[in-house]
Amino acid sequence: MQNASRRKFLGLCLGGLGMAGAVAGAYSVLSYLAPLSDEGTGGKVSFPLTEIPPNGAKFFDFRGTTGVIIRKQNSELVALSAICTHLGCIVQWEQDKQDFLCPCHGGRYNSDGSVISGPPPKPLEKLAITITNGIVTVG
Ligand code: FES
Repeated sequence: MQNASRRKFLGLCLGGLGMAGAVAGAYSVLSYLAPLSDEGTGGKVSFPLTEIPPNGAKFFDFRGTTGVIIRKQNSELVALSAICTHLGCIVQWEQDKQDFLCPCHGGRYNSDGSVISGPPPKPLEKLAITITNGIVTVG
């Protein structure tokens, strides 16, 4: 009788461990598959205007991908998706040329995101910008 209850107790313990492992595994898989949370920001990204160098670019995480904002020579700001429309590589800002180069297949975009040359089939996606009290909000 004592052996039977010991066996039952061990069985319950092993079953509990198995269940905990299954729950932890399922949580890991679901966390990986779930979209990234923007934690109440509505997918917007904000940063000080001073972080965008003159004639330069600032890259940032945007809705699970990469965005870029540039300050053109005339001080105009342009925010774009940094994802090349050809096969999805991240474009680079070439400050000396004031345009974007995709390192994968040589696609080139102007500072407004329009295709200059190479295989990209369409412009970089434009992102909305608002500026309030020196804070730039993209999205
Ligand atoms: S992925 Fe950019 S040019 Fe091919």
